[in-house]
Amino acid sequence: MSTVLITGAARGLGLDFVKQYAAKGWKIHACARKPDALKGVKGDIHGHALEVTDYAAVKALAQKLSGEAIDVLICNAGISAGRDQGLGTIEPADWRQVFEVNTLAPLMMAGAFVDHVARSKERKLVAVSSRMGSVGENSGGSYAYRASKTALNMEWSCIAKDVGGKGVTCVVLHPGWVQTDMGGKNATLTIDQSVPAMVKVIDGLKPADNGRFINYDGGAIPW
Ligand SMILES: NC(=O)c1ccc[n+]([C@@H]2O[C@H](COP(=O)([O-])OP(=O)(O)OC[C@H]3O[C@@H](n4cnc5c(N)ncnc54)[C@H](OP(=O)(O)O)[C@@H]3O)[C@@H](O)[C@H]2O)c1
Repeated sequence: MSTVLITGAARGLGLDFVKQYAAKGWKIHACARKPDALKGVKGDIHGHALEVTDYAAVKALAQKLSGEAIDVLICNAGISAGRDQGLGTIEPADWRQVFEVNTLAPLMMAGAFVDHVARSKERKLVAVSSRMGSVGENSGGSYAYRASKTALNMEWSCIAKDVGGKGVTCVVLHPGWVQTDMGGKNATLTIDQSVPAMVKVIDGLKPADNGRFINYDGGAIPW
């Protein structure tokens, strides 16, 4: 049986990742600030209360699961900036919070769980990033969110180089613009169009994909 660990698992894309892997019969470590929200979801689901910026809690969870192999780690939890952050109107507190959740927390998760992933069969380390972090496709604005995802991408590029030798495949995924609390009602994709497609991409990952920035439909995104 394969095992996946997902952060931000109680709503939005994270909740659908839980449902998709449950339907595949996987064991799921579903990490959420309020894991009770997952009680109605059927499957081999193990809920863990986790605020991803509580790094002592991240370490404690990694220790609690120290005997386990985790085939796929999905760092999904993320936030957008509280308000549109334009040049000259940057709110430093908002900026720091966005970086804490979107950039530092996934790196701490990867560091805490890389050995669990390395001892598994599939060995896949996935971060849910965003096309908005692409320097090549940048159209300006949204400084904090964009920069937090660009930095996340760089982290994953570094991890790919550092642990690729252990056979771990590290990728960042763009889910598309999706109708969640974050994406809003005008987003072009439903959750059903995004998450199953991302799961298909993750299923198909090979060691040669290590270090890629991949769209939900499998296409490459420029860094
Ligand atoms: N939707 C889009 O169009 C879109 C596009 C590109 C990238 N993304 C990325 O996709 C990921 C998921 O986004 P979404 O659309 O599903 O957003 P969402 O509906 O707003 O859900 C965000 C999730 O992240 C969790 N989270 C936020 N801060 C957290 C923290 N400090 N500790 C633990 N969990 C935390 C939330 O948990 P709570 O329920 O506890 O708040 C929630 O489960 C994010 O990384 C986002 O940047 C989304």
